[in-house]
Amino acid sequence: MRKEKIIEMEKEYMMHTYARLPLILKKGKGMYVWDTDGKKYLDMVAGIAVLSLGHSHQEIVSAISEQVSAIVHTSNLYYTEPQVVLAKILSDISLGGKVFFANSGAEANEAAFKIARKYARKMLGSEEARRKEKPSYVVISAMNSFHGRTLATLAATGQPEKQKMFEPMPAGFKTVAFNDAGALESAIDKETCAVILEAIQGEGGVIPADKEYLRNVRALCDRNDLLFILDEVQTGVARTGSYFAFESYGIKPDMITLAKGLGGGFPIGAVVASKKVSDILVPGDHGTTFGGSPIVCRAALAVLRTIEKEDLLENARIQGSYLMDRLFELEQRHTIIKKIRGLGLMIGIVLGEDVAGELLKTCMGQGAIINKTSENVIRLLPPLIIGKDHVDEFVDIFDRSLTMIQRNKGKV
Ligand SMILES: Cc1ncc(COP(=O)(O)O)c(C=O)c1O
Repeated sequence: MRKEKIIEMEKEYMMHTYARLPLILKKGKGMYVWDTDGKKYLDMVAGIAVLSLGHSHQEIVSAISEQVSAIVHTSNLYYTEPQVVLAKILSDISLGGKVFFANSGAEANEAAFKIARKYARKMLGSEEARRKEKPSYVVISAMNSFHGRTLATLAATGQPEKQKMFEPMPAGFKTVAFNDAGALESAIDKETCAVILEAIQGEGGVIPADKEYLRNVRALCDRNDLLFILDEVQTGVARTGSYFAFESYGIKPDMITLAKGLGGGFPIGAVVASKKVSDILVPGDHGTTFGGSPIVCRAALAVLRTIEKEDLLENARIQGSYLMDRLFELEQRHTIIKKIRGLGLMIGIVLGEDVAGELLKTCMGQGAIINKTSENVIRLLPPLIIGKDHVDEFVDIFDRSLTMIQRNKGKV
C-alpha cells in the first residue's frame, strides 16, 4: 500500500486518539527500524520503553514461535507453566510476594487500587482501624503524574487537562504536589487507603523523585497504615539500571505495577505485591480474560532471561551514564539545552525553547527516532541492548539536528 493511502485510511477509519508522526514503520531489527521507503532509523524510544531487547530479538522470536505452536491461550480457568514461572521470578527479584497478571499498565494500576481498597476494608476488623467508621478508599497521587487512561487511573493521573472532558472523575482520588512529603502528610486523613507514585515521572517529563521524599512517603505510609504503590510501569524491568527503580531509593513499596518493558513488545501488565497484601484478592474479586497468557509470559521470560544472560542491567547503567555524559558535552555547546535528567536509560532533555516537535522531526530526517513529553522536553528510552556505537551515532545526529534548528532560527 502507498504511504499516502495508509495515512488516508487511518484518517477515515480510525479514531484520532494519537497525534501521529508521518512515519510508517515496516520492519525492525535490534536498535533499528525501517520505514516503507526503506529508510533506516536508530530507535531511541523503543515503543515508549517497551522493546527492552530491541526489535525482534532472537530470544523472543524463538520463545514466541515455540509457544504459538504449543498453545496460544487457555483462559485463567487453567494452569500454565510460563505463568507460574514468570510469577516466581518477578516475586524473587522484587517484593517477595504474589503476582496478578493484567494486559497493560493502566490495568495493573486498577488492580492495585482494588487491592488497596479491599486491604483497607479488611483492616476494619483490626484493633487499629476500629476507630474508623467506614473503610478507607482514597488513593493519593502526585501532580504531574501519569497512571493510565481508564477512568480510575485517569482520576489518579495528576494532569487536570487530561481529565477535563471526562468529568466527573470517579470518587476516591486526591492529588498533591510531587516531591513534597509535607503536602502528602497534610492530605492524609481517615479516608486514605494508599499512595501511588512514580519514582521518576515519565510522561510528566522524566522528573525523578528525591530520595528523601520517597523515604518520607514510606514512613508516612507505615505510620498511617497506608499501602504504598509504586507505579514502575515505565521505570521497571531494568530501565533505570536496576530491575526496579525502588532499589535505587533504598525503600520497598507494598506493591509495584509493571507493564511496558516486561513483555518486550507483547502486552502484559502485572501487580507484584509484598507478602502483606499478597492474599487480599480471592476468586471472584478480580480477573481478566487475556492476562498472563502463555504467549506474553513466554515473551516476558525471554526478556528477563536475556537481561541476565546479556548483563543488560550493567549495560543500562554503563550506556545510560555514557549517554548522559555525551549529552552534557552537547549542553556546553548548545545553549538551548537547559537541563539533562534521568536515571539509566530513561533520560529527559529540557530545552529552553518550545521546539521539541521540530527537533523530533529534524532528528527523524537525520535517521533517529526520539520522543517528546511536551514542547520543551525530549525523552530518550532506548532499548536496553544499546551499545556505545549507537550512543555515538545518536549524539552525532542530535548534535547536527540541534545545529540545524538553531540555524533555521538564525541563531548559529
Ligand atoms: C508510569 C505509567 N503508568 C501507567 C501507564 C499506563 O500504561 P498503559 O498505557 O500500558 O495502560 C503508563 C504509560 O505510559 C506509565 O508511563
